[in-house]
Amino acid sequence: MEVAIGDWLSLAIRWAHIITGIAWIGSSFYFVWLDSHLEPAPEHKKGVEGDIWMVHSGGFYEVNKITVVPKVMPEKLHWFVWEATFTWITGALLMVVVYYFGAEMFMVDKNVADISPMAAVAIGVGTIAVAWFAYDYFWATGFADENEPAANALFVIVLVGLAIFFTQVLSGRAAFVHTGALMGTLMAANVWRRIIPAQRALIAARTAGTDPDPAFGKKAKQRSMHNNYMTLPVIFCMFSAHYPMTFTGEYNWLILLALFAVGAAIRHYFNLSHLGRGREGMAWAAGAGMLFVVVAIFTSGAFTQQDLDAKGAKKVAFLEVHKVVSKHCVSCHATTPSNRAYDEPPKGVVLQGPAQIQQWAKKIKIQAVDTHAMPLGNTTKMTAAERRILGIWVLQGARLD
Ligand code: HEC
Repeated sequence: MEVAIGDWLSLAIRWAHIITGIAWIGSSFYFVWLDSHLEPAPEHKKGVEGDIWMVHSGGFYEVNKITVVPKVMPEKLHWFVWEATFTWITGALLMVVVYYFGAEMFMVDKNVADISPMAAVAIGVGTIAVAWFAYDYFWATGFADENEPAANALFVIVLVGLAIFFTQVLSGRAAFVHTGALMGTLMAANVWRRIIPAQRALIAARTAGTDPDPAFGKKAKQRSMHNNYMTLPVIFCMFSAHYPMTFTGEYNWLILLALFAVGAAIRHYFNLSHLGRGREGMAWAAGAGMLFVVVAIFTSGAFTQQDLDAKGAKKVAFLEVHKVVSKHCVSCHATTPSNRAYDEPPKGVVLQGPAQIQQWAKKIKIQAVDTHAMPLGNTTKMTAAERRILGIWVLQGARLD
């Protein structure tokens, strides 16, 4: 067996990405929770804004929140910046290894837009970079400061516009992951460029015995809030590749936006319940749940028509199926793929012999009929009629005669 170095590399980076991502999101969720559960500090604790007692893994923890800079700086002050940094770096590497090395298959879908793989990569990277600078500039203006609700609305509209834009130029899968990468980049850059500098300014001012410029703190708070609401939608984007029913249809942008709303509403539920407004929060959670169900029904509805069609269709002979699979799938899904991008059959799926095709019948329907996730990037230009042949064959029992 040839060692698939690419796969091991992607495994290592993905693992590191998930580990650092958990550390980042975990600590940020923890601080949001902590902040909203502080009790007013007792009289004798001067300078303490709030405190909290917790019990966890065999010990009691008392945390005091102090808003003034301590008179004597502690020897060791922990900053939370590496989690975000490494999550972003490993994410960017993963994007390169998975999407940009295989750009022809992963980035481009000729049915969406007939662009070159290079152009697709440039659009992905370029949009993310421009988005950060525009976002950062806009939120530094007086307008955003004075009209925060309007600025937030505008921010959401532009984000939605960019997500739609991605779905109109990149393959569905790449569009989803790039939308996530765009938001993840804003989040990480917020930490580096706004949140950490505000903390530094706070320390600098207090050590100099002056009051810090309140604008710094306010800006950092705005960015933290954005990060807070983007977290769950970003996580969805990152694992969406496992669910082709979300990204392959014509209305994939609508599904993306609906699931964004679900993620943000769930986050809102947590935020409200931390504040003791659990009931109000439940309404948001229930709304999110209903929207999720509506999306699920809406997307699966698309398949039933085709299933109904199959009932009246005449028997599809396996010979036809074999022809379609050989033409469109075997270049990659063979023990030794002829497609040079692969040393091994992707995901261990081999579709050469009749028994193998039959074994994978259900998955074939999901990947190549119900959704158009396969052939990857439709590089082999599979037609709707050919997909129908596969679909009907599976629905007729996937027989070999
Ligand atoms: C250009 C190469 C290529 C072609 C052509 C191709 N595939 Fe794939 N296939 C892949 C890759 C790469 C993966 C793994 C995708 C991933 O990483 O999620 C995959 C994964 C799959 C899976 C497993 C999905 C899962 O994770 O459950 C199935 C099933 C599949 N392909 C079926 C097909 C069928 C059917 C065809 C032909 C209609 C086809 N493929 C054509 C590259 C290809």
